Amino acid sequence: MPQPGEAAGSPTIGVGFLGAGPVTQAIHLPSLARLGEAFHVAHVMDVDAAVASAVAARVGAAPSASMDALLGDPAVDVVAICSPHQFHAAQVIAACRAGKKAVLCEKPFAVSAEEAAEIAAVSAETGVPILVGAMHTFDPGWLAAEELMGDLPRTAHTLRSSIVLPPNARFEDFATEVIARPAAPHRDLGDPAVVAAMLEGGILGLAIHDLPLVRRFVPDFADLEVLRAEIVRPFGYVILVRAGGRTIELTAAMTSTWKPDWTFEAVGPDSALTVTFTPSYVQAGSAVAELTTGGRTRTAGPFGHNGYEGEWRRIAGIVAGTERAPEAAALIDDLRFALAIVDGTRSHITEAAA
Ligand SMILES: NC(=O)c1ccc[n+]([C@@H]2O[C@H](COP(=O)([O-])OP(=O)(O)OC[C@H]3O[C@@H](n4cnc5c(N)ncnc54)[C@H](O)[C@@H]3O)[C@@H](O)[C@H]2O)c1
Repeated sequence: MPQPGEAAGSPTIGVGFLGAGPVTQAIHLPSLARLGEAFHVAHVMDVDAAVASAVAARVGAAPSASMDALLGDPAVDVVAICSPHQFHAAQVIAACRAGKKAVLCEKPFAVSAEEAAEIAAVSAETGVPILVGAMHTFDPGWLAAEELMGDLPRTAHTLRSSIVLPPNARFEDFATEVIARPAAPHRDLGDPAVVAAMLEGGILGLAIHDLPLVRRFVPDFADLEVLRAEIVRPFGYVILVRAGGRTIELTAAMTSTWKPDWTFEAVGPDSALTVTFTPSYVQAGSAVAELTTGGRTRTAGPFGHNGYEGEWRRIAGIVAGTERAPEAAALIDDLRFALAIVDGTRSHITEAAA
């Protein structure tokens, strides 16, 4: 199989999309367009047949409104799952059972511990490589940080993920002309159940990008406790967690803002790491990592591509047999970590309302 950058003309990896909403249109299709030596889009499926047809027409792919039609299409080597969260687990399992060469599932790849266990079993049984689209884990800036950070994963006492972004639609509109976008629902913030559901949405939809990075410093989280959990208007959260002897601060504000800021920090007694990521949807180079130890700062990045392209480059390597797939067990522990924070915030909100 060709790698990105190899001569054109050799057969390329056929990608099939389950779900053709803004993430497919504004994130994955532009990434694949830059990796045309390695990939082509073979099939686009969406439950909305008009969206499937319009998106497929943009890339010369076959359209359909049926998952079985896409999974049965021999031109589809790799399945990308970009449907809403609640369908991810069943679609990952179906794609693995269809014997595809790899599955890329947008985050989160499941919404319950039971689904995570089912995916673990199917992954072990079929051996199909699974990647979760937590794009920061594939960002060359983060990968360089992992090389730089020495014993910080053992010594860090404080971990911070801080996100200040404009609403997604602004970036989607910069990247493409989105064909369909659902209306925003009305939410009653006086209702604790609504607040808990919004926090769950924030954790599984946004914080989850950096939770695998946090977990690199907190491999054991059995004692996880949520100390504070609040919604920030119009959309965002402030969540304070203790786990594995570490303090974890998760903050996000999606609001009219310039300039966007997405920073991950790990602070230890002798050194501190800051990784500054580009906003979601933006494909203009990688994160920059800075490690300061005893007054000396080492910097890595920016590199030429970010984690969105990194995901697809990794898939090309996995299909070619030159790169290893992520460990399914680690992906499942990342998800369990996120779900433990969701459960902790729900208990915190319920206790505060009582
Ligand atoms: N990696 C990132 O930066 C990033 C950013 C935003 C969202 N996401 C994730 O990407 C996924 C998709 O996000 P979006 O904003 O495009 O979502 P969306 O809900 O706006 O669009 C999803 C599309 O899936 C279709 N769909 C609904 N049910 C389906 C089914 N059962 N099978 C196939 N298609 C179905 C819908 O018709 C819609 O066109 C979500 O899981 C989200 O968490 C990732």
